[in-house]
Amino acid sequence: METPFVFGKIATDRNFTDRETETLCLVQNFTSLSNTIIISPRRWGKSSLVNKAAELAAKQDCQLRICTIDLFNVRNEEQFYSILAQKVISSTSTRFEEAVASAKKFFSRLVPKISIGTDPTNEVSIDFDWEEIKRNPDEALELAENIAREKGLKIVVCIDEFQNIAEFTDADYFQKKLRSHWQKHQHVAYCLYGSKRHMMMEVFTNPSKPFYKFGNIMFLNKIDSKYLVAFINERFADTGRQITHSASELIVELTDKHPYYVQQLAQLSWLRTQDICSVETVQEAFNSLVNQLSLLFVTITETLTTQQLNYLRALIAGEKSISSTETMHKYHISSTTSIARSRVALVKNDILDFHSGKYSFQDPVYAHWLKTQYFQ
Ligand SMILES: Nc1ncnc2c1ncn2[C@@H]1O[C@H](COP(=O)(O)OP(=O)(O)OP(=O)(O)O)[C@@H](O)[C@H]1O
Ligand SMILES: [Mg+2]
Repeated sequence: METPFVFGKIATDRNFTDRETETLCLVQNFTSLSNTIIISPRRWGKSSLVNKAAELAAKQDCQLRICTIDLFNVRNEEQFYSILAQKVISSTSTRFEEAVASAKKFFSRLVPKISIGTDPTNEVSIDFDWEEIKRNPDEALELAENIAREKGLKIVVCIDEFQNIAEFTDADYFQKKLRSHWQKHQHVAYCLYGSKRHMMMEVFTNPSKPFYKFGNIMFLNKIDSKYLVAFINERFADTGRQITHSASELIVELTDKHPYYVQQLAQLSWLRTQDICSVETVQEAFNSLVNQLSLLFVTITETLTTQQLNYLRALIAGEKSISSTETMHKYHISSTTSIARSRVALVKNDILDFHSGKYSFQDPVYAHWLKTQYFQ
């Protein structure tokens, strides 16, 4: 039997819940060609949301093409131009021959090397001579606008893991180039998102950076408990099993509404259920999840300094004013400077998230493990 929950993959159809306001807003931005930036911590559902909105928007407007690019593996400008050209061309061509023709037609100064991709989609793959594109990236950056104008289309270019561009050589200069081209586009909009919140914030909310005020910023929230509980109940029912209301609530509570973990814990609980899933089953599943992850948590913890760990211990204990002399003494924190340094490093390493003036753990299961096992 197919399992009813999905984690680590894009959530679609019956695996996707709530996000109605965000979906609506994103569909509107796509069809009206407004630029959007989506920021959230890891695994809260950015890619799934963009995917859903893209499908709906494309259904609403037959002139609209959505081009999705993932910069996960893209480490430099050269690769960026290649993947941009390749994806723009393939999302605006229905046949392979059309893609090849586009690749030839829309470049006059650059000479792209065109080959059939090795991936199963058989997309065209496009490469440029590095020296040439470095001198003259305009055609690659204008490609989407030129194709859209020529073919009477609207294009939304969605770029995942966008914060990676902040690590390219000469990042500011590169970003300036992108922005100066993209902001002039009339037939193309950009949806930029990524999973390193602090880096995305730096790129888009720092007034001295080129992408400052580039578009509407959407801060993705967690999914509300009532939707998650209803979702879990429904998915159990779909497979002829049941779950008690308090058991679904416990799944949501233990995972602190973290969408990925909600689905993972629901799955582990479902696998342990014959007829009705109880609170005990969920607790058992949660313990096994923590065990399964503990090796990873040990590895993460080994990278932390003693001062960082002392700070985390105070944070987990719920201390209100960590910088008070008394609290610092209690947790062996050496100084307020040490607190500031720990915070910066922990945010940078994706252990903590800083939002609305508060520091919180990105990974609720890691927080639980630290509290119940490591600091015990
Ligand atoms: N709307 C949703 N309804 C139910 N589950 C969801 C939803 N959105 C995300 N999830 C769960 O969270 C997981 C991660 O979602 P997704 O990959 O879309 O997040 P992300 O923010 O893009 O992650 P990353 O930061 O790793 O890129 C999914 O596999 C799914 O289990
Ligand atoms: Mg993603």
